[in-house]
This record gives sequence, C-alpha cells and structure tokens, in this order.
Amino acid sequence: MTTTATVALTLSCIGAGRLGSTLCRLFAEQATQPLQINQILNNHLESATRAVQFIGSGEATESIQQLVPADLWLIATPDDAIAEASRALVDAGVLRAGDIVFHCSGVLGSETLANTVSTTDSYRASVHPVHSFADPMSSLSHFAGSSCAVEGDDQACARLGDLFSAIGGNCFALQGGHKALYHAATVMACNNLVALLATSKQMLAAAGIDDQLQAKILAPLIRQTAENTINNPDPATVLTGPVSRGDSHTVAAHLEAMAGRPQWQKIYSTLGEAAVDIARQQGYASDDELEQITALLTAASKPDH
Ligand SMILES: NC(=O)c1ccc[n+]([C@@H]2O[C@H](COP(=O)([O-])OP(=O)(O)OC[C@H]3O[C@@H](n4cnc5c(N)ncnc54)[C@H](OP(=O)(O)O)[C@@H]3O)[C@@H](O)[C@H]2O)c1
Repeated sequence: MTTTATVALTLSCIGAGRLGSTLCRLFAEQATQPLQINQILNNHLESATRAVQFIGSGEATESIQQLVPADLWLIATPDDAIAEASRALVDAGVLRAGDIVFHCSGVLGSETLANTVSTTDSYRASVHPVHSFADPMSSLSHFAGSSCAVEGDDQACARLGDLFSAIGGNCFALQGGHKALYHAATVMACNNLVALLATSKQMLAAAGIDDQLQAKILAPLIRQTAENTINNPDPATVLTGPVSRGDSHTVAAHLEAMAGRPQWQKIYSTLGEAAVDIARQQGYASDDELEQITALLTAASKPDH
C-alpha cells in the first residue's frame, strides 16, 4: 500500500522583525497544512540570523538575488518599505504564477503590491492582525483570539484566512478602501487612549496628586469604564458625567480650571463634543442645556483659543 505525504507549503519572509518572526514561528508550529519556512531576508544578515533562531527554522539570506521560489511571501518590513520590497521581489524573478504575496500593514491595502500581480500572475493580499507584537515571546502565547482584517485577491484571502485561523486569528473581510479609516479607529482605541490617560495623569499631577494616588484613583475608573463599554455596545447606556446630565456650569468650571493649558482644553472639548452627541441619544439633558455646553466646548476647541 502506498501513502501520499501531504506536501508542505513554503513561506519566505522579507523583513522578519517583531511581527514577521512571531508569525513565521506560529505558522511553522501551528498551521493545519504543514508549512516550511524557507528563507528570511532582512536588512542585515545578523538580524535575519536572530529571526531564524527565534523561529526555529528557515535560512537567513543575505541578498534578494539569493531567494528561491516559495508558495507564500510575507513582506513584513516597516510600511514605508513594503512597495519597494515587493518591486525588488518582482525584479529578482523568483515569483511564480499562483504564489501569494502579502503584507500585514494596518493602513495600506494590497494594491501596494500591485506590481507583483501585473507582472507575475501571483496573488496579493493584506492581513492586519489587531495585536501588539512589542514582545514576540509573549505574542506567541497571546496571539490567539486577535482579530485579523483580510483584503485582496480572493484566492489569496481564502488561503491566508485558513492560515491565520489556524494560529487562532479571528479573520474578517475588509474593503481595501476602508483600511485607513479602520486603522485610525484602532489607533483611537489603543494609542490615543494611552495619550488620553497620560493627559488625565498630568491634570491630576497639576492638582497636587502624586503618582501613587493617581494610580489608585484611575485604575478602578479605567477598568470599570472599559468593562462597561465592552459589555454594552451602545455608548448611550454607558455615558455618565456632566455632559450626560447637562451640567453646563460644571463644564465651564472645568474649562476655567484648564486655563493656560490649551492642549488639555482642546482634548477635553473635542471629546466633550462627541459626548454631547451621545447625551442627545440618552435624553437626560434638555436641548437647551446641551446647546449651552456645545457653545462652551466649541469656543474652547478653536485653534486660536
Ligand atoms: N509591531 C506590531 O505590533 C504590528 C502590529 C500589526 C501590524 N504590524 C505591521 O507589521 C509590519 C512590520 O512591523 P514590525 O513592527 O514587525 O517591524 P520591525 O520590528 O521594525 O521589523 C522590520 C524588519 O524589516 C526589516 N527590513 C526593513 N527594511 C527592509 C528591506 N528593505 N528589506 C528587507 N528587510 C527589511 C528590518 O531588518 P533589520 O532588522 O535588519 O533592520 C526588520 O527586521 C508593518 O507593516 C507593520 O505595520 C506591526
């Protein structure tokens, strides 16, 4: 009796830094169809060698001319280098019809790889994992459950959807034209939230409250607000505070207390205006009260304020 061994897919990575190394290792260890890491090409050979050690397989490659064919090509350079790396890959003459070329940028679409398709009949896609790869070792155990936005050619999306699902990604389809807005939304919920909380800490410090007490005040407030927001998708069921109540005197007192700190006032008033929209849906505050609050916030958010 003869048995047919499953043929392993091959994947090479151009730019195996934090994201590239982590994904290559997860793919190699967890893909449902056997997957072999072929080559790793970074800017520097030492860095490619470190990535190979982390991944546990593959070969560090010194130049693009040394690349050999692979079924899947992950371009995980910084965003600004993706288009140039894909052009260099085409010029290297190693792409075959049916190969899949993909990147993981949150903001760029697969059209960044357009040249790979027009000249080689390969397929292109982008898969953006909503995950921070700051610590690759920790990402190995925490990646599962991360959402992954997939867009590009159907053939590439189907295969990459299977691959990312096998390592625990929750894949969903996103139109390429919506990527920048989608990515800005994730930045709002993550990076800008960090900046917002940093501002809140500065304000507490200016009110004479030390670091230790700031943490005690903020930690339960942040946790509770995050929990409430996660458990109640409608913000109108979560918003409390002066805007929700229509307390225009409180808002005026806040803005006055921030006099001389235009950046704090602008952040407070821009987000306050968004809170007014939610308060209108709640209906606790009257239209008059919300108009007074809007007038105060609009005045404070003007660039020359
Ligand atoms: N990090 C995250 O949390 C995260 C999350 C979601 C999506 N992404 C996306 O993932 C991609 C990679 O991000 P990252 O944070 O992993 O980047 P990174 O840690 O800075 O790594 C980038 C790697 O690319 C290599 N590289 C740069 N230019 C190159 C070129 N022209 N040819 C070959 N290799 C090149 C660098 O090599 P050397 O080390 O030799 O300089 C480095 O190993 C980006 O598209 C980013 O938007 C990242």
